[in-house]
Amino acid sequence: MTRLAGKTALITGAARGIGRAFAARYVAEGARVVIADLDVDRAAQTAADIDTDACLAVKMDVADIQSIEAAIEAATLGGFGPIDIVINNAAVFTAAPITEIAEADYARTFDINVKGTLFTMQAAAGHMIANGTRGKIINMASQAGRRGEPLVAVYCATKAAVISLTQSAGLNLIEHGINVNAISPGVVDGEHWDGVDAFFAKYENKSPGQKKAEVGAAVPFGRMGLAEDLTGMAVFLASDEADYIVAQTYNVDGGQWMS
Ligand SMILES: NC(=O)c1ccc[n+]([C@@H]2O[C@H](COP(=O)([O-])OP(=O)(O)OC[C@H]3O[C@@H](n4cnc5c(N)ncnc54)[C@H](O)[C@@H]3O)[C@@H](O)[C@H]2O)c1
Repeated sequence: MTRLAGKTALITGAARGIGRAFAARYVAEGARVVIADLDVDRAAQTAADIDTDACLAVKMDVADIQSIEAAIEAATLGGFGPIDIVINNAAVFTAAPITEIAEADYARTFDINVKGTLFTMQAAAGHMIANGTRGKIINMASQAGRRGEPLVAVYCATKAAVISLTQSAGLNLIEHGINVNAISPGVVDGEHWDGVDAFFAKYENKSPGQKKAEVGAAVPFGRMGLAEDLTGMAVFLASDEADYIVAQTYNVDGGQWMS
């Protein structure tokens, strides 16, 4: 299928995990993809693994506004412009009891997950408006943004902010024909969750892999998600079929959350 033929997408944090799966699926659907990541070496390897003609790796730190603007410029100079689709996928996870949250950890997590999402949306919208593009912006939320968790106050708050930013930006940017929506995954296996598992091993005295097994068993579908489980929604929200969808956050989580 080529539901995104002729489109160009920029996906942040696409060097690995869910963003990488989005990039591979978008290329399979006929798009060209800018793989924008802090880890530019891994981004380059991912681009080579998927398709060197259809992918361009660029260095981008979403917490740094100048870096966001430089990445969009590098994409355009590299022949990957104008950009039609942006996925705000880059994020970091952190966990600690309220009594142990460090200010620096709070600031870093909000800078990447919230400030990064907002200012990448701002830069993307400016780029799309300047080029007359009726674009699509997709933000990565989380079930963590739907409610709090005892050890995950900061990450949960960042993802609640992503849902809120999606609503406000969606309502603001639709006048330019730009759709802003979000995907809310549940628990998705991969390197990210290896890190989450390590946090819970530390704070809940669990053995390595134990938390992963527990959360997988608790999913109504019967297992943890795979990055590939999310790609259908990412293609749909980027396609013309989603033109009338504005400011929404969709759960793709095996039945964990209903809203
Ligand atoms: N994996 C899950 O269970 C899960 C669940 C819900 C939501 N999500 C969300 O989905 C998205 C992708 O998750 P994932 O599991 O693929 O994560 P991941 O940790 O595997 O990948 C994140 C990528 O972002 C990049 N990155 C980190 N900081 C960056 C920065 N400042 N600038 C640019 N790139 C940066 C990393 O280098 C990495 O390639 C995230 O927004 C995450 O919060 C994941």
